[in-house]
Amino acid sequence: MEKFVINGGQPLRGEVTVSGAKNAALAIIPAAILSHDVCRIENVPTSISDVSFMIKTLKHIGAGVRLIDRSTIEIDSRFVNSYVISHDMTKYLRASYYFIGALLGRFHRARVAMPGGCYLGPRPIDQHIKGFEALGAKVTIEDNAIVEATANELIGNPIYLDVVSVGATVNIMLAAARAQGMTVIENAAKEPHIVDLANFLNSMGADIRGAGTDVIKIKGVENLHGCTYSIIPDQIEAGTFMVAAAATRGDVLIKNIIPKHLESISSKLIECGAEIEEFDEEIRVSMNRRPGKCNIKTMPHPGFPTDMQPQMAVLLALAEGTSIVSESIWSNRFRYTEQLLRMGASITVDGQLAVIHGVEALRGAPVRADDLRAGAAMIIAGLAASGKTEIEDILYIDRGYENVVEKFGNLGGDIRRVYCVEPFSKDSAG
Ligand code: UD1
Repeated sequence: MEKFVINGGQPLRGEVTVSGAKNAALAIIPAAILSHDVCRIENVPTSISDVSFMIKTLKHIGAGVRLIDRSTIEIDSRFVNSYVISHDMTKYLRASYYFIGALLGRFHRARVAMPGGCYLGPRPIDQHIKGFEALGAKVTIEDNAIVEATANELIGNPIYLDVVSVGATVNIMLAAARAQGMTVIENAAKEPHIVDLANFLNSMGADIRGAGTDVIKIKGVENLHGCTYSIIPDQIEAGTFMVAAAATRGDVLIKNIIPKHLESISSKLIECGAEIEEFDEEIRVSMNRRPGKCNIKTMPHPGFPTDMQPQMAVLLALAEGTSIVSESIWSNRFRYTEQLLRMGASITVDGQLAVIHGVEALRGAPVRADDLRAGAAMIIAGLAASGKTEIEDILYIDRGYENVVEKFGNLGGDIRRVYCVEPFSKDSAG
């Protein structure tokens, strides 16, 4: 078992380079099997465990995957030979369900175990299924555990999503790219990684328009070919460093970013009193006083991202005044607040609302990463707090943050990864 040990209280200063976007990589990697060819993908965060799992799954179904360098992979999809993915492969991450759309697109058949991933509340897949069925697939769920989708042929159709879903939008795009005729997704998600997936598929010869708006038109093509493509920078990793800079009252230049993707985060940080300077591919965040309060409501893109909500709550926990955070995407995303209470925060949660009374300082404590972004929030809290913070369950953080110790360490954060012995349990008794 590993944990992070942080000695907090130092302002973060310096430069950090953001990796390729995890959520874009998780959609683009399975998309590669829609071609019977070789795709070279650059700016891939290869050392996060979610990406390792996707690569493992690709190999399991017969794809060849070559690591060209730390952030470039080559996927050879010529010999993909299986449409079956078992629970062993899907249990760790949500995005494993993108293989349903990709395999359906390739073989007109997919048998994929239900996905695991961070628990943020119930995560239904009804909109994915609605999309596959609209394209002509028959979808059954066996024992609540395995999704089986089959189609004689996939035929483009209009699909209206009842909720704005990133996952359903991705999955329908994957299944529709090689369908016959035109698929129109209405009320589609507009996240940057949806646009990135569309750009990748178009580089492979697909005909997708409107990604980034709420109507995406996919004119099916018979074949897709290989390509070379570079994934966009990670919006949430960039946002995490931005908030960390502000919460520690530091001054950080964040490199390899797209400022447009960060607007909702920048505007909230400015409201809290941070100074932000934008460049073409860099953003500088500094804060030289106690942050001010602000209210946040999470929304689908271009609203404030739910995946930045826990990190931002740490800043607000240190702000002067009372802030209200309203979570509108996930029903169980405030579990991390219990960990912040241990560090001296004053937060009351009522359903989907958290009322945060800012305190002057947080103090280090033993805490846990409840999920990926909750873990990122614990790192920020530990760096901003006085004294020692130990974070357990960091496997969640390793799912989505590349070289996190090195990156925060280079900014002057005192953070170490340490190995620790598993607590003695009755089960392990002789
Ligand atoms: C993706 C992100 C995740 C982020 C979320 C919202 C990836 C790999 N993960 O998750 O980090 O927090 O977007 O920005 O990209 N819903 C339904 N039925 C469905 C699908 C979704 O009701 O069939 C609901 C969900 O319960 C949730 C909302 O729609 O309340 C949004 O979910 P969705 O956008 O699908 O999230 P994910 O794609 O799972």
